[in-house]
Amino acid sequence: KGKRDLAGKRVLISAGGTQEYLDPVRFIGNPSTGKMGLALAQAALHRGAMVTLVHGAANWDVPLGVQAIPIINAEEMQQVMLEYLPNADIIVMSAAVADVKPQDYSTEKLPKRSLPQSLPLEPVPDIVAQLGQLKQPHQRLIGFAAQTGDIVTPAREKLYSKKLDAIVANPIDKPDSGFGSENNQAVFLDSQGRQQKIAPCSKLQMAHYLFDFIRHISGK
Ligand code: C5P
Repeated sequence: KGKRDLAGKRVLISAGGTQEYLDPVRFIGNPSTGKMGLALAQAALHRGAMVTLVHGAANWDVPLGVQAIPIINAEEMQQVMLEYLPNADIIVMSAAVADVKPQDYSTEKLPKRSLPQSLPLEPVPDIVAQLGQLKQPHQRLIGFAAQTGDIVTPAREKLYSKKLDAIVANPIDKPDSGFGSENNQAVFLDSQGRQQKIAPCSKLQMAHYLFDFIRHISGK
């Protein structure tokens, strides 16, 4: 308690789900509420950091002292993350980015009768992979991997392919964890091969475990 190990550090966090609109009322999205990112912001603030929270749809109030930047879609999130990347010491990408967007956008609401039978999609930018390419050696980049079934193997693969320093493998098929829950459980992995299993706990507790975990990633 009272740990101020992030004093003077800038922590950049993405949180919540992105939404890719087809017209002014319909979108592709996911059930993320951003509570894990909110908990990360609270934990970082508590430990003395300057915190920027880039978030999609959220049903909570931003904590006093956190700089919050709301966004809707992946391209907006990408722009803000790239803008804040150079000054950040720790970047945590806990947002659930919708992986695809409709190819076309209609500025007018599409009448039901003219809704397409199928929807051509295109990929959105992989933001964390881009941050992994651009980051400086002193910066720490942490991703999340929401998975069903075996959570560790795909998370490890993402850790290396996206050039992350650490990843949180997060089961979304277990009771009382993942999307929208107050609690969470995970396996933390880092680029040096360390692995730590986190038993079910509050998202705030998990956020503190994560900041403890990444302290032990040695400098490059
Ligand atoms: O590949 P997957 O989406 O499972 O990877 C999860 C990690 O990648 C998360 O940290 C997520 O925020 C990030 N991500 C991203 N841009 C995307 C898709 C995922 O930054 N388009």
